[in-house]
Amino acid sequence: MLELDQLSASYGKAMALESISLRVMPGELVAVLGPNGAGKSTLLKAISRAIDAQGGLTFEGHSLHNVATEKVVGLGICHCPEGRRLFPELSVLKNLQLGAYLRTDKAAVAADLNKVYQLFPILQERGNQMVSTLSGGQQQMVAIGRALMGAPKLLLLDEPSVGIAHRLKMEIFSAIRHIRDSGVAILMAEQDAQSALQIADRAYILEHGHVAHEGLAADLAKDDHVRQIYLGLA
Ligand SMILES: Nc1ncnc2c1ncn2[C@@H]1O[C@H](COP(=O)(O)OP(=O)(O)OP(=O)(O)O)[C@@H](O)[C@H]1O
Ligand SMILES: [Mg+2]
Repeated sequence: MLELDQLSASYGKAMALESISLRVMPGELVAVLGPNGAGKSTLLKAISRAIDAQGGLTFEGHSLHNVATEKVVGLGICHCPEGRRLFPELSVLKNLQLGAYLRTDKAAVAADLNKVYQLFPILQERGNQMVSTLSGGQQQMVAIGRALMGAPKLLLLDEPSVGIAHRLKMEIFSAIRHIRDSGVAILMAEQDAQSALQIADRAYILEHGHVAHEGLAADLAKDDHVRQIYLGLA
């Protein structure tokens, strides 16, 4: 579905991604792990065309290089960015509806709103509330819900669990697993490698902009080197 072949990107002269090869198959949940500054967000931004990159970058067999960032959603790639980027003064419902702004299929949009509410019932309860009044975890639910309202085939999630209380974090990871089970492919950047490896099918570990390890999530979670260096476990 998504294929990166030796993709590189830089900010000015500083190289942020170096020759990354990565793929996501239909229906897969793939994690991108790694420490601060490893290049996780840059990778997701390159895929959603928020920044330019060099090398192979194809989605469903078509190159993304000539696709403008505002056209990427139309192809079925929805990006839930780092820091959520919500409209705090607007209601939960309005924020969710903004995720569907390009869609004209009203019945399908209404059905997708219902799916978001099933996934996160608290959002239906809080539908008319301003987003700024929600907790961090609830705001993250709005951000994921908004991305789902774009009807993605591939969902890009940037650190969905950062700064969120444990209980809500588990709820969010479980919802992510549900989204995957419903057939949406997911590429998820996450610093909580341990939790991410529990729900992912496969994972790539980035270090200084390149892929240091990759494999099945279950294998990486058992790998002694990975456990010591990236999971902080003996
Ligand atoms: N807008 C920018 N301008 C210049 N350099 C940047 C910019 N954004 C990121 N970088 C640099 O690119 C590298 C990769 O950053 P990136 O944000 O992709 O890392 P990350 O893995 O997402 O980190 P974090 O876990 O902190 O979110 C870092 O060295 C960072 O300082
Ligand atoms: Mg980041």
